[in-house]
Amino acid sequence: MNSALKNLLRPHYIDLQGYVSAGMESDKSAEKIFLNANENPYELPGLEGFNRYPEPQPKALAAAYAKAYNVSSDQLVMTRGADEAIVILTKLFCEPGNDAILICPPTFGMYGVDAKAMPADVVEVPLRKTDGTFTLDQKAIVHATFTPGQNIKLIYICSPNNPTGTSFPHDQIAEICREVEDKAVVILDETYAEFSSAGSMTDRLDDHPNLIILRTLSKSYAMAGMRMGCFLSADTDFIALVKAKALDAYPLPCASVEAALHVLSDDIRPLAKANIEKLLDERERLIPLLSGNALVKHIYPSDANFLLIEMDDKKCRASEFIKFVAENNVIIRDFSSKPLTKNCIRLSIGTPEQNDLVLRILEGFGRQENAKR
Ligand SMILES: Cc1ncc(COP(=O)(O)O)c(C=O)c1O
Repeated sequence: MNSALKNLLRPHYIDLQGYVSAGMESDKSAEKIFLNANENPYELPGLEGFNRYPEPQPKALAAAYAKAYNVSSDQLVMTRGADEAIVILTKLFCEPGNDAILICPPTFGMYGVDAKAMPADVVEVPLRKTDGTFTLDQKAIVHATFTPGQNIKLIYICSPNNPTGTSFPHDQIAEICREVEDKAVVILDETYAEFSSAGSMTDRLDDHPNLIILRTLSKSYAMAGMRMGCFLSADTDFIALVKAKALDAYPLPCASVEAALHVLSDDIRPLAKANIEKLLDERERLIPLLSGNALVKHIYPSDANFLLIEMDDKKCRASEFIKFVAENNVIIRDFSSKPLTKNCIRLSIGTPEQNDLVLRILEGFGRQENAKR
């Protein structure tokens, strides 16, 4: 294992003996009779095959992910969504009561929640607001990482970032990786990478021993309900250690594995890609229409399938608008009480019809507010 990861890993993982499940001892070829895992031999109608435990890390799926993300199949660990990857990585690197993670708020909430559950400290280096968008405070990130006593092990960079939609320059992320190489692991969350014009940094994995990338099928492949994702590292020894010592015995449900293989197949992938294009077109159609509304103060540039919209606080309280939208059976997310997203809402891009409905509701809200004055 490379020294950057080995020195940061909680040391007891080096000697820990992982669980060897029945599924790891033998593959499930059709000719064999399996009486080794206390499974039930009687399949029930409509549930054929589900009486057997799944392959812990299915080889066929690893190959499909590897093809999709342009890495080799021994450079990835398959997880139940990016969410589970965050839990596993926190557990691997953060010594409870001693270590910390660094996040750049406003960002995805689970990084902090999983760290606090260890418990590990959460050091915040907020994004900077510059010219109507958000940027990483690179100097402050590196400074915090080297501040004695903070023990920052994981630096989360989410790009495109949830909830702001911002992509951060790959060169800058690469520079941060280099600057903190022996001090911290950089976890780049690419949950929204397929929507991004900046693309992915998977092609730079080999350059950075301390870079781990999270990917998911939830968003771009429309598979949120199946809970499938993975994390990537150039270091195949690290990946092998994780598979042997840090996973649940049979983490990936059979139905989810089947669905993932289907969505990554040559038949379905182009359809998913076409839907991404539709969503991006819709995002671009919506921006001027929303900006033209008097209640909207600013739309942050987005490289993802959602928009962070700041409402004009002189004319519209975001929380009241969200209530009004909900009364019309549309649910959007409120970020208005958070420090850098005051009076902001986050709107996921829907179908053209759904988006048109949101525009009509916004106009209706404007008329209601005008009538009050
Ligand atoms: C930035 C980010 N990371 C991770 C996740 C979790 O994704 P998954 O569905 O793959 O667990 C989300 C979900 O919204 C997210 O926005």
